[in-house]
Amino acid sequence: MQHLLGIKDLTRQEIEQILETATHFKEVINRPIKKVPSLRDVTIANIFFENSTRTRLSFELAQKRLSADIINFSASGSSVSKGETLLDTVKNILAMKVDMVVIRHSSVGAPHFLAKHVKASIINAGDGTHEHPTQALLDVFSMQEKLGSLEGKKVAIIGDLLHSRVGLSGIFALQKLGAEVMVCGPITLIPRYIESLGVKVETNVRKALQWCDVANVLRIQLERQQVKYIPSLREYSLYFGINKALLDSLDKEIILMHPGPINRGVELSSDAADSHHSIILEQVENGVAVRMAVMYLLASNLAIR
Ligand code: CP
Repeated sequence: MQHLLGIKDLTRQEIEQILETATHFKEVINRPIKKVPSLRDVTIANIFFENSTRTRLSFELAQKRLSADIINFSASGSSVSKGETLLDTVKNILAMKVDMVVIRHSSVGAPHFLAKHVKASIINAGDGTHEHPTQALLDVFSMQEKLGSLEGKKVAIIGDLLHSRVGLSGIFALQKLGAEVMVCGPITLIPRYIESLGVKVETNVRKALQWCDVANVLRIQLERQQVKYIPSLREYSLYFGINKALLDSLDKEIILMHPGPINRGVELSSDAADSHHSIILEQVENGVAVRMAVMYLLASNLAIR
C-alpha cells in the first residue's frame, strides 16, 4: 500500500495486518507513556474541506502519539475562498516537504485524484458519499474486540445508505472478513445497486435487529439531501428510529454502533445510544489505534520512517 484510498482495493490480508497492528497500538495508548517514536521526522498534513470532529481529532492524536510533525488545514479561512484549486492547495502544502496527506473532501474521488498527481502518501478521511476507510477499519476492529472473528457474523447497517460513505466502506470490510451484511432503511435511502454487492435488503427495522449480531446505525445526512427522501424526521424516527425498549424487546443481545455524529431522537434515542448495548465511545477510542496502524504501515512501505 502506498495510499489508503478505500476498502474496496484492500485484500483481506491487508485488512488483517492493519487490525493486528492496531491491537499493538491500542496497548501502547493505554500505557502511562503513550508516545512512541515510530514516525519521528515524518511530516503529515491534515487537510479538511468538510467538517469533522472525530476523524480530524483522532488522526491528529494518532500522529502525535507516533511523534510525527503535523500541519492542519481547513478550507474555511484558507485561500480556497479566493479560488485556489484543490491541486494547487495540496502542491503548495507539499512544497513544505510533507510526506503524507490526510484528506476529507465533499467530492467523490478527491483523494484518488491527489494520489495520481502528487508525490505523497494519501489517506482518504472521507470523500463525499463514497468511502471512509478508516471508519470501516475502526468499526470492524471494535466488532472483533467484542465477537472475535467476524466470519459468519451478521451485521445490519441501518439508516441513510444512499448518502453514506461509512456504509459502503463497511460493506466492503465486513464481506472481506467473512461477515454477512444486511442493509435496512426506507427504500428511498437504499441505493438501487446495493443488492449487486451481495447484501440483504430489509425495510423493517425490527426484523433487521432480530437478524443481526451487530447493528451499525447511520446518520440521516440532511446536508447531502437536495430532494426529500423521507416525509419528515419525525416519521423516520417513528418507523426506523431505535430506542432501548426496542433493543430490550429482542430475544437476543445485540451490539449497537454508530459512527457519529448522532442525531439523538432521530436514528437513535438517547436511552439506546447510552445503553449497555452501545459501544459508540469504544469505537472512538479504537479510532486512534487504527489510524496509528494505518499511518505506521504506510510510512513503513514508503520507507520514509
Ligand atoms: N465518524 C465521523 O467521520 O465523524 P466526523 O464527521 O466527526 O469526523
